[in-house]
Amino acid sequence: MNIKYTSITGFKDILPEAIHAWQYVEDLCRQIFKSSGYREIRTPLIERTELFKRSIGETTDIVEKEMYTFIDKNGESLTIRPEGTASVVRSYIENNIKMKEQIFKIFYMGPMFRHERPQKGRLRQFHQIGAEIFNVQAPSAEAELLLIINSIFDKLNITNLNLHINSVGCPSCRPEYSKELKKYLKSNINNLCDNCKRRSEINPMRALDCKNEACRIILNKAPLISEYLCDNCRTHFEELQSYLKELNIKYILNTGLVRGLDYYTKTAFEIISDEEGSQNAVVAGGRYDNLVEMFGGDPTPAVGFAIGVERLLRFARIPEDINASPELFIATVGRVAYGTAIRLATLLRTRGVYVETGYGDRSLKSQMRLADKLKAKYVLMIGEEELKKKNAILKNMSDSSQETISIRTDNDFLNSLKGKII
Ligand code: HAM
Repeated sequence: MNIKYTSITGFKDILPEAIHAWQYVEDLCRQIFKSSGYREIRTPLIERTELFKRSIGETTDIVEKEMYTFIDKNGESLTIRPEGTASVVRSYIENNIKMKEQIFKIFYMGPMFRHERPQKGRLRQFHQIGAEIFNVQAPSAEAELLLIINSIFDKLNITNLNLHINSVGCPSCRPEYSKELKKYLKSNINNLCDNCKRRSEINPMRALDCKNEACRIILNKAPLISEYLCDNCRTHFEELQSYLKELNIKYILNTGLVRGLDYYTKTAFEIISDEEGSQNAVVAGGRYDNLVEMFGGDPTPAVGFAIGVERLLRFARIPEDINASPELFIATVGRVAYGTAIRLATLLRTRGVYVETGYGDRSLKSQMRLADKLKAKYVLMIGEEELKKKNAILKNMSDSSQETISIRTDNDFLNSLKGKII
């Protein structure tokens, strides 16, 4: 029986026809990161489950519902990464990076995995381009990251997204806020869903993530963290806003923004489209000053962001791939002519020129059709007659003009292409 295999729900092929846009965005980000001193880090796709549970938080949607977790052959619980920050923090501590680098600035690109309900802009395997900066306490770090995102957006002609920012406090001001929020949730407990009821007891801030409409009405009137910030958090947030104004980075102060991951302290931000039906964030990030210490490292402030590449591509304007069509297509008749074609193609390919051939197993007519379909700029035709005279016919596909050129020596061949292909 023939089984027809399909990809898993929420997992998608990125086909060659789409890859130009991906590579364009990746190359652009690499360039921009490099000019601000961010180097790439590649961490494993799989980590111990505990790493994500403790950093993202036991009561978050990601940990409660969305992780791809399995027991490996050693009986150990492992998880395919749902995000990149936890792994970077692990690596920072494990590799003793603080001893070697005062300020550590890195970026990463790659797939992340979350078992969410797939819909427009939401996948189970999606890709992030992220950056993190360690050991800068000042909000100038946030400002730099937001400037980097701005540069990426500028180059991709993205204008219709809004930056929302908030401060989510720190361990010195959050307990007071949590207490007040808990009190408020308790007073409305009968109108909350079971999930909110449970979360209001163990981690009230996580109840604020609930999407249930009835809960939303209550949650929208809940006390705001912004009213409970300690002096340190408040000053930090004000200083960040003064940078943003100075740098002309437009933002919306969104006092309801809390983010769905527990590790954030102080700054939290999201870059969101206000397009109807797409409430999803394209970029999200914030500060996590306690995570390194929580994992046993020295207290080290840190901040970062991640762009969702699939979402970014929906808004990006990508220039056409100017190298998509071959400079030359070599069409041949006969086995000997194809041998010559490979030799000539290799001569050009080693010089970086994109050359296609007809592989010598189809008619001249079908090769010409293929050259046309590939939008080849020139076609070199080598038949038995031409081969005897050590000649070939070069056709300019834009005006159909033809000329006979010599292929007697490599130099003859290369010289006759000068000013046309090379
Ligand atoms: P996050 O908000 O969970 O944050 O994800 C960041 C971005 O990844 C989102 O804004 C979105 O563009 C994309 N994304 C998330 N889930 C999906 C999905 N199911 N399908 C498609 N795209 C998705 C983080 O992951 C943090 N690690 C960001 C960060 C870095 N914070 C500090 N440093």
